[in-house]
Amino acid sequence: MADTEPVINKGLEGIYFAESSICKVDGQAGKLYYRGYSIEELCGNSDFSEVSYLLLNDKLPNGNELEGFRQQLADERYLPKSVVDFIKENSMRMHPMDTLRSAVSMLPAYDTEAYDNSPGSNMRKSVKLISKSASIAATIGRVRSGGDYVMPDQSMGHVESFLYMLNGRKPDPKTVKILDVMFIVHAEHSSNASTFGVIVAGSTLADIYAATTAGIAVLKGPLHGGADEAALEMMYNIGDPDNTEKYIEDALAGKQKIMGFGHRVYKTYDPRARIVKGYLEDLQTNGSGELKNLSQIALRAEKLMIDKLGASKGIWPNIDFFAGPVYVSLGIQHEIFTPIFAASRMSGWCAHMLEYWKNNRLLRPLEKYTGQVDLKYVRIEDRK
Ligand code: ACO
Repeated sequence: MADTEPVINKGLEGIYFAESSICKVDGQAGKLYYRGYSIEELCGNSDFSEVSYLLLNDKLPNGNELEGFRQQLADERYLPKSVVDFIKENSMRMHPMDTLRSAVSMLPAYDTEAYDNSPGSNMRKSVKLISKSASIAATIGRVRSGGDYVMPDQSMGHVESFLYMLNGRKPDPKTVKILDVMFIVHAEHSSNASTFGVIVAGSTLADIYAATTAGIAVLKGPLHGGADEAALEMMYNIGDPDNTEKYIEDALAGKQKIMGFGHRVYKTYDPRARIVKGYLEDLQTNGSGELKNLSQIALRAEKLMIDKLGASKGIWPNIDFFAGPVYVSLGIQHEIFTPIFAASRMSGWCAHMLEYWKNNRLLRPLEKYTGQVDLKYVRIEDRK
């Protein structure tokens, strides 16, 4: 019987590989749910620590559970000296995502249960990873701007502590609130490339440190997490808001992709982008100087792109388009945008790993072979 011709789904587009109750992305309606709660509901009422608990445990915590979870995050916040030394020694020599990836992969050395793959141990390691990845991202930013490691303050909340470790001073509540929303909107997004990368690694029964380290590697690229930095760079290249339309028209005419637009699943407005855009509208009205400029450029670019490609091609802004100017407004340096994304997504990555391991199956897709077979080996002296 002749082999049936395999169907190739490039980029695994449209392929389901598992069931999950963690996150629903409704790409047609532009809706996003974490464990059944809409992203608007969570951003309006919750905070990143509580959302992390929700993602990991499939329920909102009661008061005692939340207090206990916050305490566990606070207890795990410190970094081992050799991780800090590694960051100090290397962070100017490589991309911050490489520093983050390497630092996270050092953590098993300081965990006596690193290779215990039981559910209880993996839950404890998840809390450790969520807490320490934020401390590592903050320390990378701190060291790159010439500062020294800041010992975490255990009385602070997760995002407040992140900013404290980044800047060496207590942040104001408004900055904490906005960044907390940024952490929530980045916390989870179903089987995107990095989460899939985590699950591929974890499906071999590699431990959760190995799996999430793989996720950081996947997130780095500009087609995924790196798009926020690339979009901001474009806004700086545009420079003057009045250059926006010409710049975008020229880029599109040259077949360039505009970073921060388009999405494999959303064929309408990304609901996370809508939330983040609200902060930019505020900056356009109330900001000044660079921030006003950036927000005007972003909003004019968004309008043009939607007019040209929204309805016709389903290319709408994604979260990464507006994130950069918002981080700038919070005083956060460009190079740690993607590490912040990783530290936020750590909650989703760990939740997926805990879920997938309940019914693990090695991930192993197929390729259609298009090469030759049965070639005869030619000795080197006989080759042309
Ligand atoms: N700017 C201009 N045109 C675009 C863009 C864009 N950002 N994105 C897609 N298109 C066009 C493509 O050129 C292509 O046009 P064609 O049919 O004339 O050849 C069509 O839309 C389909 O594009 P694909 O790249 O095939 O669509 P895919 O589903 O693979 O892409 C992706 C999704 C990778 C996100 C893409 O839209 C892109 O590269 N965007 C820019 C990078 C980006 O913002 N990434 C962040 C994604 S969100 C996240 O990771 C948090």
